[in-house]
Amino acid sequence: MSQTAEALADTRQREFAFTRRDFERVRRLIRERAGIALMDGKQDMVYSRLARRLRMLALGSFSEYLDHLESARDAAEWQAFTNALTTNLTSFFREPHHFERLQEVFAQRAPGERLLLWCAAASTGEEPYSLAITAAEAFGTLSPPVSILATDIDTQVLATAERGIYPLERIADLTPERRRRFFRRGQGSNEGNCRVIDELRSLISFRRLNLLDGRYPLRGPFKAIFCRNVMIYFDKPTQYLVLQRMMPLLALDGLFFAGHSESFFHATDLVIPCGRTIYRRADAEAA
Ligand SMILES: C[S@@+](CC[C@H](N)C(=O)[O-])C[C@H]1O[C@@H](n2cnc3c(N)ncnc32)[C@H](O)[C@@H]1O
Repeated sequence: MSQTAEALADTRQREFAFTRRDFERVRRLIRERAGIALMDGKQDMVYSRLARRLRMLALGSFSEYLDHLESARDAAEWQAFTNALTTNLTSFFREPHHFERLQEVFAQRAPGERLLLWCAAASTGEEPYSLAITAAEAFGTLSPPVSILATDIDTQVLATAERGIYPLERIADLTPERRRRFFRRGQGSNEGNCRVIDELRSLISFRRLNLLDGRYPLRGPFKAIFCRNVMIYFDKPTQYLVLQRMMPLLALDGLFFAGHSESFFHATDLVIPCGRTIYRRADAEAA
């Protein structure tokens, strides 16, 4: 198909011209920038998520938008582009067996030790708050000896995470005890929402971090790294690089928690399985 014919076929019924070539360009850019490998068939998703950016910038086609992105060195637009293309699905206590294992980590704390935890793809915050709730329950106090770092590449979800305000449906599956103890129901204009209590929020620091960055400016060692349901978007060599940067930050007796469909059999020199989608440092035994 000629390029013009292809553009016509692709843009039928669409507000903006969006060709196969534009899709390939988006794919390359988000892969280079965030490691995200967009599958074939994601054209409609890309179109609907980025069309908003074109409207905001009053541009007429995807190629104009992508030219702008690549030539203008517009850091804010690069961030908006990245935010638009991330997938942020998450929930409180997702994959609950991980939180049971985390309780065992807490139970082994040395006297006086402050435990550092890192949630490396925190999305809208449900995961780091689940870590904080687990800590509060394990230590029987709202000020447990735990500090949580929550990072994500997407600044918009991080802002939501930091606010700690959720529609009530988001906590519907939590036990009544957890809802009562760790959340406050909104009143008036906040009716229908709930807010995580301040004591839990104060256990967590939120920061933007791209897992693709050459080095992570973080201070460990972390007793646990939760890096769940993000590696799935990366190819194997990228997963390996991320693990290579992360492992020196994990305590020798620390645990690495992965998502339910993530496995690292290609990186056994870095991580060794020690439970259902749970890993430890491969060099821990030798140390
Ligand atoms: C599907 S969510 C997973 C959220 C949570 N970890 C969970 O399992 O419920 C994936 C998250 O990874 C983030 N992400 C994608 N690429 C990233 C990167 N290169 N660096 C850091 N975070 C990234 C996305 O912004 C998104 O919030």
